[in-house]
Amino acid sequence: MTKQRVLSGVQPTGNLHLGNYLGAIRNWVEGQHQYDNFFCVVDLHAITVPHHPATLASDTYTIAALYLACGIDLAYSTIFVQSHVSAHAELAWLLNCITPLNWLTDMIQFKEKAVKQGENVSVGLLDYPVLMAADILLYDADKVPVGEDQKQHIELTRDIVNRLNHQYGKPDQPVLKSPQPLIRADGARIMSLTDGTKKMSKSDPSDMSRINLLDSPEVIQNKIKKCKTDPVRGLVFGDPDRPECNNLLTLYMLLSGKSKEDVAEECKDMGWGQFKPLLTEAAIAHLKPIQDKYHEIMNEKGYLESVLRDGREKASEIANETLCRVKLALGYSLPT
Ligand code: AMP
Ligand code: TRP
Repeated sequence: MTKQRVLSGVQPTGNLHLGNYLGAIRNWVEGQHQYDNFFCVVDLHAITVPHHPATLASDTYTIAALYLACGIDLAYSTIFVQSHVSAHAELAWLLNCITPLNWLTDMIQFKEKAVKQGENVSVGLLDYPVLMAADILLYDADKVPVGEDQKQHIELTRDIVNRLNHQYGKPDQPVLKSPQPLIRADGARIMSLTDGTKKMSKSDPSDMSRINLLDSPEVIQNKIKKCKTDPVRGLVFGDPDRPECNNLLTLYMLLSGKSKEDVAEECKDMGWGQFKPLLTEAAIAHLKPIQDKYHEIMNEKGYLESVLRDGREKASEIANETLCRVKLALGYSLPT
């Protein structure tokens, strides 16, 4: 039986943090043996908000190296850069022309990001989910492992598929395949260290709000020491009045690899002074091998380039085939 296909991606904007890792990349790594996987660095998405041309390329390499350092295995997975496969931009255009405008103005992430941009909202920011749909659909992906915040974008992708198949496919011969989101119960929404009601985010102006995968042990220790807690003794999961407590216990559970029951039992009578060093130690120990591997990969630049070259070749072949299929369905002639 052929394996189901997985596609996912992260934007090369700023540092990867524990939210990206626990909400997305960790799940790619754990599930990769079961699927045929494509992981891209979505650098076309990165310019939907103002960006720094001087660091775009190096940020893209950093993310690709972190995919490998976190445990993506090239025996099961293909890693590539979105802008290296021109079919992404081209399919996005075709999908643009069948996507109703109000589907995009309704997207939660657009509304949130647009508020932050003030007057300076680009058409690209509005169109971001259509490009994301193109990423997924070019590979006929069955599953898309992401954090909770991306669920609405995958629902939109499914709506686009239905619309395109309805308008241009035959009932027994759909043009595009509908993907399913793959969202884990634990870690799908890691919260900020400085406010347990806000998600951990690359765009939070305060670096104290997140633990980055490449933070040094001293920085991690300091961030956990200063993170927001509450004055209650005894630490529990799931109390809606104690969002910081739930988040920090979840981080401890996922980073230490202990079960929820074990963590609940271990921490039920603890105060923060006792808990924080445990979380610090678990975070540092979990991230150390990732950081070591990352530095090893970055010291061997030729290797990363060859990984991305191979990835581009494999991805392009599949993406171009799908693009031709869609163009034919829409009535285009293909170049002879
Ligand atoms: P981004 O940083 O927006 O490129 O997100 C990359 C991946 O990380 C997506 O699958 C997001 O859903 C996931 N992600 C981002 N922030 C968080 C968070 N705070 N908790 C869980 N997952 C997250
Ligand atoms: N929008 C995603 C995010 O910010 C990144 C992304 C772009 C993506 N294309 C994708 C995720 C395709 C999964 C599949 O998190």
